[in-house]
Amino acid sequence: MPGSSGLRVAVVGATGAVGRELFCILEDRRFPAAELIPFASERSVGKELRFAGKPVVCQPLKPGCFQGIDVVFFDASDAVSKQWVPEAAQAGAWVIDNSAAFRLDDDVPLLVPEVNGHLLDQAISRAKTSPRGRILAGPNCSTVQLVVALQPLQKRFGLRRVIAATYQSSSGAGTAAMDELRAQAKAYLAGEPISPRAFTHQIAFNCIPHIGGFQDDGSTSEERKIRLESRKILGLPELRISATAVRVPTLLCHGEAVSVELERACSPAEAREAMRAQAGIEIIDDPSKNAYPMGLTSKGDIVPSGSGADPVYVGRIRRDPAFDDYGVAFWIISDNLRKGAALNAVQIGEALLAKLGR
Ligand SMILES: NC(=O)c1ccc[n+]([C@@H]2O[C@H](COP(=O)([O-])OP(=O)(O)OC[C@H]3O[C@@H](n4cnc5c(N)ncnc54)[C@H](OP(=O)(O)O)[C@@H]3O)[C@@H](O)[C@H]2O)c1
Repeated sequence: MPGSSGLRVAVVGATGAVGRELFCILEDRRFPAAELIPFASERSVGKELRFAGKPVVCQPLKPGCFQGIDVVFFDASDAVSKQWVPEAAQAGAWVIDNSAAFRLDDDVPLLVPEVNGHLLDQAISRAKTSPRGRILAGPNCSTVQLVVALQPLQKRFGLRRVIAATYQSSSGAGTAAMDELRAQAKAYLAGEPISPRAFTHQIAFNCIPHIGGFQDDGSTSEERKIRLESRKILGLPELRISATAVRVPTLLCHGEAVSVELERACSPAEAREAMRAQAGIEIIDDPSKNAYPMGLTSKGDIVPSGSGADPVYVGRIRRDPAFDDYGVAFWIISDNLRKGAALNAVQIGEALLAKLGR
């Protein structure tokens, strides 16, 4: 990695829901970026954004655009990543890609640093002989919060099967989807007609059990991602895991209702203790005070964020009677744009720099 005092960092998809959050997190966490270069679509070329109090201007992607850049965060789309990630790695940059384009490739680590950050050592070795070694992937937003909560149970009790139902906010589908929810809510209340664009059906005042494309087995691509990515990150290729992914009419934060059957008996208190000890988890679980994680706090804001920590919140931890003494059920909330995408990517970058001695 050239340079020593500060890095040349690029964000592809800088004007998007994740990209904008990434800017704030890089700044808040003092990522050592001496220069930040934003890339977006042709629509946004020339648009001015701000980083560290200074204006930065959106650039178009073009051959040679990654020359001299140390780290590139990709937050655009699968198609953009497929086309441009290999070029960025070839140009010598470390690439942290939040799209699904490379997540399941055997030679690309799929990273949630507090769960499997040790895989960076292998990536660093591979990068010495192949540019592809510099490609690091971040998981789907629903997968991130699920594996953070599952790993402590896996370590202490072993996982036999996992059943998850997700309650995913509109921001999981990007800026246009958030705008659509806001506009539809106003139109619905005003009695005006609604024509869905970002979603298959009206999202305002509705829940849609359909995220991604349908697969031959009747599941959706989102449900498949949760299944396959969780197996890869947890290192359990045979794990019995199923998910039902539902879009709900909230703007931010994904919720997940999870039931786990374990290899060894586990009480709710033991599950709570195991999860409390895991980095990245905060427990909010006091039924006597109606305390459990939600996307909105009592103050009306989103679950505490901006601290740079942004944990995965777990609550409603209880025995799952469907699995006798081997079953635990719980509820998870996480900010999908932050821990589910931008923050996780920055944490990958920080862990990488630490291992590279930067
Ligand atoms: N949203 C989430 O919760 C979440 C979670 C995990 C992973 N991800 C992944 O993160 C990525 C971004 O998601 P998002 O929700 O931020 O989407 P978004 O709000 O729709 O933003 C998309 C970004 O990509 C840019 N873009 C589109 N076409 C481009 C092109 N041809 N060349 C360069 N830039 C282009 C857009 O630029 P313009 O503004 O110019 O159109 C915009 O900056 C996706 O790969 C998504 O799967 C998202």
